[in-house]
Amino acid sequence: ASGTQRELRTRADVRRSLPVREPFSNKGTHGKGLLIAGAPTMPGAAYFAARAALRSGIGLLTVSVPEEIRPILASLLPEVMYQPRQSLDYNKLSGLAIGPGLGRDRAQAAFVAQALDADIPTVIDADGLYHLAAMLERLAGRHAPIVLSPHPGEMARLTGQSIQSIESSRFSISRSFARKYGIYLVLKGRYTLITAPDGRQVVNPTGNAALAKGGSGDVLTGILLAYLLQHKQVMDAVCNAVYVHGALADTLVQTCHSPLDVLATDLIEQIPPVLHDLY
Ligand code: APR
Ligand code: MG
Repeated sequence: ASGTQRELRTRADVRRSLPVREPFSNKGTHGKGLLIAGAPTMPGAAYFAARAALRSGIGLLTVSVPEEIRPILASLLPEVMYQPRQSLDYNKLSGLAIGPGLGRDRAQAAFVAQALDADIPTVIDADGLYHLAAMLERLAGRHAPIVLSPHPGEMARLTGQSIQSIESSRFSISRSFARKYGIYLVLKGRYTLITAPDGRQVVNPTGNAALAKGGSGDVLTGILLAYLLQHKQVMDAVCNAVYVHGALADTLVQTCHSPLDVLATDLIEQIPPVLHDLY
């Protein structure tokens, strides 16, 4: 039964399922995404997620950041459009991601609630998960897929369990959580575990400790958003995003970096050669 399946993602799986760029496609075909991220103290998180999404094939990206940091991001990310937090338009969007560097102030919780109400394909990460923990019941009754990408600490908070039990029972805790809330779960760490709402589980073999550095997770959020909008199957999108993200770090360490010196920006600039190899 699919509910007890557990498999290892292979390079062949990824190559077989990466999106095909149709010759007569246009930017709308590849997804119109919204990224709700960033705070005055965490502008980089929005930058990493946005640029990773752009490098991962998204057709159109709109970013919503606080007004104080919009000018600097606009100069770094000329490819994206901007929308103020207070007047977000969810119409005509094919998906959104919320959370990287969002901030934990109460005001941001409303945007997580709003994003869930939009009922479009959604990635929730980082501070988005912090706010989600207080409104898990809102995950019920949604139709569009939701991807949650917690690290073990965030997963502990979502489930009310200790980090230690998350680490020691990650298969069973992930499976019951994904089934209970009907979501796709990416439990991050070495051998990131991906669980589908039906309980199917995939272990990712790529990635290394060079990723253990602030900003790596934000890069994954951007890739997840872009892939969610371009794959036919949600599980392929999620597994491929995690696989490619890990492969970025693996190739950097195998070629021109050490495990110490890989930055989030290096990961993003490694997307083109890694994808070139896969395509
Ligand atoms: N081996 C393989 N992969 C690893 C390893 C490792 N030893 N360590 C980390 N990674 C990967 C994870 O699988 C994940 O994809 O790096 C990424 C780290 O993501 P996060 O833990 O979300 O880290 P990040 O968001 O970049 O920075 C920490 O998250 O919860 C917030 O407040 C926290 O601001 C902080 C931020
Ligand atoms: Mg994170």
